[in-house]
Amino acid sequence: MRFTDKNVIVTGASKGIGRAIVKGLIAEGANLALIARTKSALEELVAEAKSKGCRAVAIPTDVADRDQVKRAVDLARKELKVIHGLVNSAGVLDNEGIANHSEEVWHRTFAVNVHSYFYTTRAVIGEMFERRQGRILNIISTSGKVAIGPNRAAYVASKHALMGFTREIAVEAAPHNVNVNAICPGFVLTEMVEDSMRKFAKDFGKSVEETRKIFIDKMPTKRFIAPEEVVPLALFLLSDDVGAVMGQTISVDGAFAPL
Ligand SMILES: NC(=O)c1ccc[n+]([C@@H]2O[C@H](COP(=O)([O-])OP(=O)(O)OC[C@H]3O[C@@H](n4cnc5c(N)ncnc54)[C@H](OP(=O)(O)O)[C@@H]3O)[C@@H](O)[C@H]2O)c1
Repeated sequence: MRFTDKNVIVTGASKGIGRAIVKGLIAEGANLALIARTKSALEELVAEAKSKGCRAVAIPTDVADRDQVKRAVDLARKELKVIHGLVNSAGVLDNEGIANHSEEVWHRTFAVNVHSYFYTTRAVIGEMFERRQGRILNIISTSGKVAIGPNRAAYVASKHALMGFTREIAVEAAPHNVNVNAICPGFVLTEMVEDSMRKFAKDFGKSVEETRKIFIDKMPTKRFIAPEEVVPLALFLLSDDVGAVMGQTISVDGAFAPL
């Protein structure tokens, strides 16, 4: 069990990729503070963790709200004491054409996808520096490396911002022996992608089936990635084995964007 006595905060823990990483961490004995808005989904995971002998706490939080994030990290510390790892997986994706792009969607996308990663990182990293131990893992996207449009300006810009954030923080953290890395998934079949396909179909007058094919055809493997396929790399980047792997933004994308 690689994560026995290791305490990890996960945002976006209720669904999709974050949830799969939580399940992987439970299987390896981690103690967890789980953050998202959907309390029932977090509580289900807490029950699963406890049934496997892990300590776990559900902390319903809107990560776009700085004060709620501060409160969430304070609560996580109260429950778990030391925070050894942080996974940022909370994210939103809206489709909007740039000519009529709403400011609300733009700001909301940056608040959840970018600002929340800053709020959580700032809240945990100082103490990691002091202990000279810590792992931060940001779930970014192929959209952090290339444009995947159309109608994705806010999402792609937010994910490009996270690439710079991850690399810069990694350089700052390295002298303190703290590892900051990222995973950039391709299309992973989660609620986010199902929802995005429905919106895309509506925007471009296509059926959801036609849209599914358009999405799949972007990937050389011609299939969606399962959330569980992100987990082994995530666990490695959070583990003691990670060593000098720092500031990396590694794709799990079936060669969608082999950069
Ligand atoms: N699926 C893909 O193809 C794909 C590809 C590349 C990157 N990604 C990235 O991977 C991450 C996870 O995406 P996913 O595919 O797993 O999507 P998902 O299934 O829709 O899950 C998104 C997660 O973010 C949480 N979240 C959203 N807004 C929040 C808010 N304001 N406050 C707190 N939590 C919030 C959701 O929880 P609640 O709704 O319970 O709050 C949920 O746990 C995202 O950063 C996404 O951009 C996904």
